[in-house]
Amino acid sequence: MTLERYGHGGDLQTAAETFGGSPEHFLDYSSNMNPFGPPPSVERVLRERWRDIAGYPDPAVRELRGKLAAHYGIPAESILVGNGAAELIDLLVRVLKPGVTALAQPAFVEYEEAVAHAGGDVHTIPLRAGDDFTLQSQPLEHALAVSDLVFLGHPNNPSGALVPQPLLELAASSEGAMLALDEAFLDFVPEERQLTWMRRAAASPRLFVVRSMTKFYAIPGVRLGFLVAHPDRIRELKERQVPWSVNAFAQWIGCAVLDEAGYAARTLRWLQDERPWFAAALGGLGLRVVPGAAANFLLCRLPDELAGRVPELQRRLGGRGVLIRDASRFAGLDKSWLRLAVKLRADNERLLAALGETLQAMRDEPHPKEDGR
Ligand SMILES: Cc1ncc(COP(=O)(O)O)c(C=O)c1O
Repeated sequence: MTLERYGHGGDLQTAAETFGGSPEHFLDYSSNMNPFGPPPSVERVLRERWRDIAGYPDPAVRELRGKLAAHYGIPAESILVGNGAAELIDLLVRVLKPGVTALAQPAFVEYEEAVAHAGGDVHTIPLRAGDDFTLQSQPLEHALAVSDLVFLGHPNNPSGALVPQPLLELAASSEGAMLALDEAFLDFVPEERQLTWMRRAAASPRLFVVRSMTKFYAIPGVRLGFLVAHPDRIRELKERQVPWSVNAFAQWIGCAVLDEAGYAARTLRWLQDERPWFAAALGGLGLRVVPGAAANFLLCRLPDELAGRVPELQRRLGGRGVLIRDASRFAGLDKSWLRLAVKLRADNERLLAALGETLQAMRDEPHPKEDGR
C-alpha cells in the first residue's frame, strides 16, 4: 500500500493507517511546508473572528485582492483568489480547454489530472537528469508549435529547477501555445521579485501565473492560492468558479499573513543557510542531490548499489516515524528517486541519522524483501 495513495505527500492519516501510531507523531519530509509553522497572526484571526463565520464570505474577495495587488504591484482586477492553487490549476485548464497541453515532466501531478478532467491530451517534454531537470530550448520550441497551452512549474516540483528566463521570453513571444506558470514555491526564492511573471501575466491574455499561499505560510489546511491574468481572462475564469469558493477564514488569514514581513525575512534567511547544508549532508550519505533553485525541497537519487529501493526505504523509515516522498509517482522518475523537504536543523539532523542508519542496513541486506505495495 503506497503512502501516496491519494496522489500527494503530507498525508498523515494514510501514514498512520500504514505504519500505526497517531498522525501527529510523524516527522514528515514528504510535503514541503515552511517549517516555522503558521505565523502568529493566523492564531489571532482564528481566535478573534470565529463568530464572524455566521456570515457568508465576500464573494469577490475584495480585501485580500486589494492587499495582494498592493503587495505585488499588480492590478486587483488581474487577480482571482481560489481554494488553493490546486483549484485554480483545474479551473484554468477547464476554461481554456486546450486540445493539447505541453507538460515538462517530471512535474506536479495535478497538471496532468487537470488536463484529463478537461478531456485534453498531454504533450510531454521530457526533462533529463543529465540537465538537472532544467528545461531546454529545442523541446520547448517544438512544444510551443504543437500545443495549445504549455504549463510549467517555476520552480518545478519535484526538481526545484527554475525555467531559464530566456525560455520564458521565448514562450511569451510565441505565436503558438499560451503559457501558464505555476509559481507555488517561488516565494521561497530570494530573487522572487525579479523572477516572477505576475506583472507580465496581468497585461497579457496569453499568460497565466498560479500562486499558492499554503506553502510559504504553512497553511495547507486553509486552502488558499491566487491566479494572475489579464482582467478579461479573470472575468471568464470567475464566471466558471464555484461561488464562495474561498471561505471567510482563508480570506482573513490571507490578509493577515501578507503583513508578516518578519516571518518572511526569517524564512528566507533560514532557507539560504539550511538548504546548502542539508544538501551537502545528504550528498555525504551517498545520495545524488539535484541542485535546483532555492525552493524548500530536494530531489535525490539513491546511490547505484541501492537503485530501485526507494519504496523499501520509505517503508523502513515510515516504521521509524519518518516520512519521505517516493518520487516514482512523478512521470519520468523511477524507484531510485525520493524528494525531501528542508526543515529546521534539529529535524534535519534526526532525518539524516535515521536515513544514514537505514541506508546502511539496506546495503548490509542486498536482497530486498518484496515491495509490499
Ligand atoms: C507545484 C505545486 N503547485 C501547486 C500546489 C497546490 O498548492 P495549494 O495547496 O495552494 O493547492 C502544489 C501542492 O503540493 C504544488 O506542489
